[in-house]
Amino acid sequence: MTLDWINPADRVLQLPPYVFARLDELKVRAREQGLDLIDLGMGNPGGPAPEPVIEAAKHALHIADNHGYPPFEGTANFRKAITQWYLRRYDVKLDPNSEALPLLGSKEGLTHLALAYVNPGDVVLAPNPAYPAHFRGPLIAGGKIHSILLKPENDWLIDLGTIPDSVAEQAKVLFFNYPSNPTGATAPREFFEEIVAFAHKYQILLVHDLCYAELAFDGYQPTSLLEIPGGKEIGVEFHTLSKTYNMAGWRVGFVVGNSTIIQGLRTLKTNLDYGLFAALQTAAETALNLPDSYITEVQNRYQKRRDFLIDGLAELGWTVPKPLATMYLWVACPPGMSSTDFALTVLQQTGVVLTPGNAFGSGGEGYVRVSLIADCDRLGEALRRLKEANIRYQPDLLPTV
Ligand SMILES: Cc1ncc(COP(=O)(O)O)c(C=O)c1O
Repeated sequence: MTLDWINPADRVLQLPPYVFARLDELKVRAREQGLDLIDLGMGNPGGPAPEPVIEAAKHALHIADNHGYPPFEGTANFRKAITQWYLRRYDVKLDPNSEALPLLGSKEGLTHLALAYVNPGDVVLAPNPAYPAHFRGPLIAGGKIHSILLKPENDWLIDLGTIPDSVAEQAKVLFFNYPSNPTGATAPREFFEEIVAFAHKYQILLVHDLCYAELAFDGYQPTSLLEIPGGKEIGVEFHTLSKTYNMAGWRVGFVVGNSTIIQGLRTLKTNLDYGLFAALQTAAETALNLPDSYITEVQNRYQKRRDFLIDGLAELGWTVPKPLATMYLWVACPPGMSSTDFALTVLQQTGVVLTPGNAFGSGGEGYVRVSLIADCDRLGEALRRLKEANIRYQPDLLPTV
């Protein structure tokens, strides 16, 4: 029976379709047609979590106390592991009681941070293109998004000079993310210094998403907002275990930084959830304490895929910049083709799933994001199919659909 007299709240109705959900439907249909899909769409790393993490979880499952409600603010041990990791990794000292909060994945925390801080009508600055939670969270909260258009000629960096004074004066929160999903761009330390100065000048809460803290290559070390003098006074930083540790399904993340800002999120969350299953927090501690050799292995894996795919795409006419971090290539569509049309053409003709750039906002139009989540054998197969279908960068060589 349809309930035609009841509608979701406006905050839900206003949301454009979530492209990854739509992509999932298309994938199901393609599979039903018997296509062997090579899914390079989502940033969903293949393979299990590291063995010591699985073992720690198994052991923790046998501890009766872990089966009850966990502490709202996360276990003391996980919070301590987070702050010790920060000290080791960035030489930043944090108080585990007030400056670190475990999350049910960083997407949850990012969205709820917006709900905790954005009133209807508040101005929120968000880059475009961006990871959807950076603008959808504020949208759900009723915020007014001021999109900061990112451009290839500025290496996809936020140009703070393009934000009018009148907007900056009204803005309450600024979301940003380097190394960036979807562009793969990285930001120099000077950029972080500039953005901290900007936030202090206009009294804007800074939200930095450091999702790809460890997925960096060629010796590059991503910067933490909290390393920058003044960063912790005005901001928070989000992390996830989804990518580095192949734990996307486990839903583990955390936020660190300014204790007052974290307190607002904690207050909201105590009304919404009970925090992470304690056994997962034990496993997450183990992940954060894995030796550096694990991280090096992960980095080598993605770096190899990055180089392999960039070389193969070059043979098909694409000049793809080599990202210093993340698990993505940001690939220009053949001229004149929209990102949706291009992604659909590739899916229908080759079974290779790419994410259209407009999933990340209008600023991603003209690009597709390719996730490096398959091994080189599968990436080689994807390249072979693209070549066979004559899908190249030159527009006149593209097959018509
Ligand atoms: C920039 C960014 N932030 C957050 C997330 C979500 O992470 P989690 O799995 O912790 O929710 C992603 C996932 O793709 C991401 O790219």
